[in-house]
Amino acid sequence: ARKIIIDTDPGQDDAVAILLALASPQELDVLGIVAVAGNVGLAQNAKNALKIVELAGRPEVPVFAGCARPLTRKLITAEHVHGQTGLDGPDLPEPTIALEDQHGVDFIIDTIRAEPEGTVTLCALGPLTNIAMALIKAPDIAPRIAEIVLMGGAYFEVGNITPAAEFNIYVDPEAAKTVMASGAPITIMPLDVTHQMLGTPERIAAFTSAGNASGAAVAAMLGFSERFDLKKYGWPGAPLHDPCVIAWLLAPEIFEGRLCNVEIECASELTRGMTVADYWHVTDRPRNATFIRSGNSDAFYALLAEKIASLP
Ligand code: BDR
Ligand code: CA
Repeated sequence: ARKIIIDTDPGQDDAVAILLALASPQELDVLGIVAVAGNVGLAQNAKNALKIVELAGRPEVPVFAGCARPLTRKLITAEHVHGQTGLDGPDLPEPTIALEDQHGVDFIIDTIRAEPEGTVTLCALGPLTNIAMALIKAPDIAPRIAEIVLMGGAYFEVGNITPAAEFNIYVDPEAAKTVMASGAPITIMPLDVTHQMLGTPERIAAFTSAGNASGAAVAAMLGFSERFDLKKYGWPGAPLHDPCVIAWLLAPEIFEGRLCNVEIECASELTRGMTVADYWHVTDRPRNATFIRSGNSDAFYALLAEKIASLP
């Protein structure tokens, strides 16, 4: 199985992504989960991650807390999207397991150094603060990383937190810039593809048909996202972002994109956090990321429903 570390700010869509990974033990070996400040504050995100590993019946998966704020900026959160807990919707019990003592950034560094070169994939579902900090603290890890797969940015769909920027990149653009310059292989799941993965009522209902607790929780989480997003976009369902990162590892044939140069805007206030993707190769800047542009939403939801049904 492919070894992964999930860096996350759960978040209903982060939670579904974590469940998808934990439901795929043949394909993915989740070495650890690291919380970052983003959708809500660090402590709440970390607590939410603990709730999810317990829901999945995988309390042995270690959960760490990483950075409590972006590299240089003041933290911006998204309670208006995810609710006060960051995970409003399902009624999950308080966690009975505890966070690891080690700092999440050190866990990332130590794991990449300890595992054979090119075997650890980083899955980034929130602002890129922890991953940038790891790269800054330990530059030797960059060539050892198998791949960084991240949800963030946008090309044709442009922004969801400002007209120019997607939330994860907007919150910590300097971290995103550090990651983009790392030299590690990068795959980006931008809004262009996540906005195609609409959680219609029929697709949400499919998660409850197996009768398991995880499926009911996923339906409640996606149902909560609908409340906000349906009004915002006027689409037949809400977009589903972070699970695209895990689906890429399980079934890359679902997605289409291309290797191109992606740079992050950090100087402008107006376009802070914009992902400037040279999709048409109009510059000779280095092709540092595979930028995904579209995906098969039926195949994506079928994979998700099948995997979630296998959980407790
Ligand atoms: C991203 O922002 C967060 O609110 C979601 O969890 C996702 O990672 C979408 O822009
Ligand atoms: Ca997220």
